[in-house]
Amino acid sequence: SRTMPRNRLRLVGALAAILVAAGLTAGTPAQAHDRPATLADLAQRHGRYFGSATDNPELTDTAYTSLLGGEFDMITPGNGMKWYATEPQQGVFDWTNGDQIVNLARKNHQRVRAHTLVWHSQLPDWLTGREWTADELRAVLKNHILTEVRHYRGKVYSWDVVNEAFNEDGTYRDTIWYKTLGPGYIADALRWAHQADPHAKLYLNDYNIEAVGPKSDAYYQLAQDLKARHVPLDGIGLQAHLALQYGYPTTLEDNLRRFSKLGLDTALTEVDVRMILPVTDEKLAQQADWYRDLTSACLAVRRCVGITVWDYTDKYSWIPAFFPGEGAALPWDEQLQPKPAYFAIREALGGK
Ligand code: XIL
Repeated sequence: SRTMPRNRLRLVGALAAILVAAGLTAGTPAQAHDRPATLADLAQRHGRYFGSATDNPELTDTAYTSLLGGEFDMITPGNGMKWYATEPQQGVFDWTNGDQIVNLARKNHQRVRAHTLVWHSQLPDWLTGREWTADELRAVLKNHILTEVRHYRGKVYSWDVVNEAFNEDGTYRDTIWYKTLGPGYIADALRWAHQADPHAKLYLNDYNIEAVGPKSDAYYQLAQDLKARHVPLDGIGLQAHLALQYGYPTTLEDNLRRFSKLGLDTALTEVDVRMILPVTDEKLAQQADWYRDLTSACLAVRRCVGITVWDYTDKYSWIPAFFPGEGAALPWDEQLQPKPAYFAIREALGGK
């Protein structure tokens, strides 16, 4: 600019003023329209996403959907892509609920963590109500995976291919899949999912694997083994359904790091921090600390790609129905007001 003529300089200055007035300068994109940075904005500054699960019945609640659409950049269908929902009769597929959520996410420029293909729970009666030979069941599983993953091909970021495959002691969970097909069903499922959508990130997902211990060790061994055999596996999902009364998983960061070192992504996929009711200020403060710590743990490990809460508001949390006497597990309360946990997450993400 030292050589730039005076009139050219004035022109540059005028252009800059116009750009600033129009809000088109680089600056912080999050603040471009003077709205406060969302959790998604803050996470993106670290190359991470911040997501929420959602479920079809609550999508009629417009106050709820407006926060869901604004605050997050990743969405997981809480039930809409499970087997009972997607293949209610053998060979008859129903994409209604899954599609509704994928379409909503697309409208809000959000990505989708798809959940889940192979699980022992929420299976249709036609599948659980009879005996299958290994060949029959393998064909049923293959058809389900290929059909569902093809349907969502190009529309989802990742798949939880196998959910909750291990017991607490690190032995294989005795599911219909394991009993009938043996442990090889996991590699088969990953291969079929990869065949149907080569770009989707493929995950194994489970709870109580946040800390280093027998159950996360089982995943570590399995992941190592699958990698060595070139089975398509991209990541390990740590559900992180935590409970104040059981203590914080202090080895979370070390655990994330050991999976990263195997060349795998990790994600916190179903985060909630429940408490025994009633709610007290002290419990809310402790819950906030836990949300802050788990967010920091993910940020500290390069391949921890993001965090998803298992819905964002206590209004629609699964906890009270599944753990009687417990609840208040999410960062927003039943009135959709942010709790201390919400501000703690923001702080951990470097927001104010
Ligand atoms: C839960 C849903 O949130 C509930 O609505 C449903 O009734 C049961 O399943 N681990 C998982 C999730 O992987 O799929 C579960 O979701 C919660 C525990």
